[in-house]
Amino acid sequence: MDKKIIYSGIQPTGCITLGNYIGALGNWLKLQDDDEYQCIYSIADLHALTVRQNPAEFRARTLSFFAQYLACGVSPEKNIMYFQSHVPAHAELTWILNCYTYVGEASRMTQFKDKSAKNADNINMGLMDYPVLMAADILLYNTSMVPVGVDQKQHLEIARDIANRFNNAYSPTFNVPEPYISTMGAKIMSLADPTSKMSKSDANINATISILDSRDVVMSKFRKAVTDSDNTIRIGEDKPGITNLLTIYASVTGKTIDEAVAECSDMPYGVFKQHVGEAVDELLTPVRIKYNDLMGDKAYLISVAKEGAEKAAYLAQKTLRKVYKKVGLFQL
Ligand code: TYM
Repeated sequence: MDKKIIYSGIQPTGCITLGNYIGALGNWLKLQDDDEYQCIYSIADLHALTVRQNPAEFRARTLSFFAQYLACGVSPEKNIMYFQSHVPAHAELTWILNCYTYVGEASRMTQFKDKSAKNADNINMGLMDYPVLMAADILLYNTSMVPVGVDQKQHLEIARDIANRFNNAYSPTFNVPEPYISTMGAKIMSLADPTSKMSKSDANINATISILDSRDVVMSKFRKAVTDSDNTIRIGEDKPGITNLLTIYASVTGKTIDEAVAECSDMPYGVFKQHVGEAVDELLTPVRIKYNDLMGDKAYLISVAKEGAEKAAYLAQKTLRKVYKKVGLFQL
């Protein structure tokens, strides 16, 4: 029996955050151990070009993100791992899918509206086309499931709409993918403002934990995490800061929220924050060590990326050829 395909990726912008880890990467690690699935994980470098990048920094960051995937335990033996730009079929299928996507639906995407507001001087076509490129990523591999955080749900919905539209116009071509979103940790909030998402590009350094932050930095950011003044540890809409810290604690320790509350409810806030910081540091210390080792062996990283790109390109090309034929492009 053919394995079901899992596909996901991260844009190499800012840093890989604890939010990315809990919302996405952590699930990748679980799924890679399930024999039912073939998982494909990319560095979404073409997506990152929708905002201006310094070329030298961008190039270095892209490789660093790849090393961080590996350092977290995403395994090149179990998965196909590659850089999106190394497989030309992504850009090629995007063009075709553009012709099956309406300007109206693309311009209604929440992230497009948010990013347009933030980059008012650079609302480029790529920004609007972003979800179509993401649909191409997913649809090229006949993906069944896409493990992402809740902020990507709308992009998944448009990918499904495009797939259905194409299938109905021709004949079944694309698998229609399902999102895979955890019930807990699908939206980790900023430590500085727990009513907004922890975001890679936050200008406030205390808002975000990078998975490469040192122990001192992790502890200091948790110490400063914004909470409230009522001194009780419980979850609730009226307690976004404490709810977020409990969610982080439960996610990184593998406990349920109820277990986390039971364990921490008697702690003063200062002790609780320290406790969460310790648990996060325990998760991240081995990642940091492995990352430093990997960055010392660029030849290895490049060999993994090359092998991944070859495997991905083979699969992607099969789908692209089918699509070109269906739309009536002349074949040689
Ligand atoms: P990106 O790079 O913004 O985020 C990577 C992954 O992390 C999740 N995430 C979060 N989860 C929980 N809490 C948070 N605060 C948080 N912030 C981010 C995101 O939902 C995502 O799963 N467009 C995608 C990258 C992409 C992609 C794809 C994903 C490109 N092609 C194909 C899936 C399939 C993005 O920008 O994610």
